[in-house]
Amino acid sequence: MTDSLHEVLTTTRTVRRGLDFSRPVDPALLMECLDLACHAPNGANRQNWRFLLLDDPAVKAGVAEHYRRAFREYLAGSDLADTPMGRSGTALAERLHEAPALVLACQLGRLGPDALPAKQSSFFGSVYPALWGFMLAARGRGLGTALTTVHLAYEREVAQLLGIPYDRVTQVALVVVGHLSSPPKPPKRGPVADVIAHNTWRWE
Ligand SMILES: Cc1cc2nc3c(=O)[nH]c(=O)nc-3n(C[C@H](O)[C@H](O)[C@H](O)COP(=O)(O)O)c2cc1C
Repeated sequence: MTDSLHEVLTTTRTVRRGLDFSRPVDPALLMECLDLACHAPNGANRQNWRFLLLDDPAVKAGVAEHYRRAFREYLAGSDLADTPMGRSGTALAERLHEAPALVLACQLGRLGPDALPAKQSSFFGSVYPALWGFMLAARGRGLGTALTTVHLAYEREVAQLLGIPYDRVTQVALVVVGHLSSPPKPPKRGPVADVIAHNTWRWE
């Protein structure tokens, strides 16, 4: 493995405060990252993913309003408000409309409330590898990203704002994109040995 691949894999983390909000992101760069993203595996190779690039200030402001409301409600119902994650999440929510670009990932279709886990897994799992590919490609080009889902509490309102046919298209995640203002450090994670077992489940 090359050092650069190692660096990209270990430093593609959630960038909230470390984005340069004043520097625009070249749409051609986003297209390059999305092109790489669309090489990802997906269910039956249907490529039912769709990506909306949001860079119009009025559109971003509309989405950000729903995001902020959803984030406030999420935080109020959690024990995260007084944690570094809660604080950086709030900082991002407050400036979301200033983000140079937002990428809204969608999947064609909508699961019913009784969809079985296998169906849910292949539905959402047909977008996440592409999203991660997008984030890695962006990181490799000096961009930072934050994958978010909290606005989905207001998915219907955002669909209306963006002209998305809610009944036929599911929003999966909103990725915030901007140039990095400083290189991110590797994230803190537990030891890998704690989450691996050989042949038999070993946790409660
Ligand atoms: C499915 C998913 C949903 C997430 N939703 C949000 C979100 O709505 N808002 C946010 O600020 N971060 C969100 N995150 C980012 C996580 O909070 C973040 O990955 C985690 O805290 C670890 O951060 P780190 O990679 O910088 O260590 C989400 C991450 C994932 C994978």
